[in-house]
Amino acid sequence: MKSHYFASCPRGLETILLGELNSLGVQEASVVDGGIKYESSTEIMYRANLSSRIATRILYRIANGAYETEDDVYNGALKVQWTSLFDLSNSLKVSTTGVKCPLKSLDFMTLRIKDAICDQFRSQVDARPNVDIRDPDIRIHLYLNATHFDLYIDTSGQPLYQRGFRKSSVEAPIRENLAAGILALSGWESGEPLLDPMCGSGTFLIEAAMIAFNQAPGLKRSFGFENWKDFDSALLEKIKSEYQTQIKPLGFSKIYGSDEDLRAIRVTKTNLEQAGLKMAVELSCQNFNDIKVPSKVGVLITNPPYGERIGEDEDLAKAYPLWASTMKKKLSGWRTYFLTSDLRMPKLMRLSPSKKTPLYNGALDCRLFEIKMVAGSNRI
Ligand SMILES: C[S@@+](CC[C@H](N)C(=O)[O-])C[C@H]1O[C@@H](n2cnc3c(N)ncnc32)[C@H](O)[C@@H]1O
Repeated sequence: MKSHYFASCPRGLETILLGELNSLGVQEASVVDGGIKYESSTEIMYRANLSSRIATRILYRIANGAYETEDDVYNGALKVQWTSLFDLSNSLKVSTTGVKCPLKSLDFMTLRIKDAICDQFRSQVDARPNVDIRDPDIRIHLYLNATHFDLYIDTSGQPLYQRGFRKSSVEAPIRENLAAGILALSGWESGEPLLDPMCGSGTFLIEAAMIAFNQAPGLKRSFGFENWKDFDSALLEKIKSEYQTQIKPLGFSKIYGSDEDLRAIRVTKTNLEQAGLKMAVELSCQNFNDIKVPSKVGVLITNPPYGERIGEDEDLAKAYPLWASTMKKKLSGWRTYFLTSDLRMPKLMRLSPSKKTPLYNGALDCRLFEIKMVAGSNRI
């Protein structure tokens, strides 16, 4: 039996997410801003949670309809059989998002949905579940537009970019699903040399290593649907062992990471160890301008500092021309990709990008600049 789902993702990566879902067998799907609406079976929902590198959450739609007042949405929520979805002992969190929503208060609507759930539990089992806004077992999302509501139960639990092994980070780590999406946008393929010369806590390197080993990103974590009454643990185990057998033999994968900050290299090393991916990546502590380029051609993907702190803007304006001259001297033949919110970057480098892809890093409006380093070209 098929149900309705919404898979959310960082804006700009919807088409790549659609490709992932299609490869799992999803046929009925539509692209919306920030995700994909689709129909699928429970098995595909389990598979999407375990294997999607791009999705942030997979939400299962449990009610929807037209509304004019808070009571319309409350009554819609009352029709859901909450007591057969999850147990009284599970903690609960409701959140609401509204786009052009005419209701006065989204917080009030959140309370009304919580009331609908608790009222039903009370009338059927004489007690209500507790609310836990930090680490709930069950997450309910209400989405309201101008005329309609969609009520979802979150199948993922913690967001899927939490792969379950990153324990430490340095400043401003990029989210894992955004890093995986950028690797896909670059066209990098496992076996091609890959370099992140400002690797921070190593997110691009870890995602690339998982791709190289064909390792499903969700194998080391748990999911929200495991708390549901109809959770099929045998099905989850079957899918997990199938993905486990698809992992390729581990070995060096021509993935190179460096950073001028020794702390960053240590953190990356720890993260790679924790993920069991250390042997895939070669790390070194060096300034980009001193970089020893590991091969004649390859793909450079990086996320340089943004210029968020006072004085950093001017420092970056001075650094960019030096990076450009390093690239011209040492990286001719490479495809390079820079994710930054500093839109001045290519101009100050005096290099012209062949592509500028708008992406959001959290709330930051960024561009992924593709700069192909061909000897003697690129100059603005
Ligand atoms: C925004 S952070 C990268 C975050 C990383 N993508 C992650 O997910 O953790 C930028 C990194 O660039 C490094 N960096 C800045 N200038 C550098 C340079 N000239 N050479 C090498 N590393 C540099 C910083 O030490 C910092 O770790």
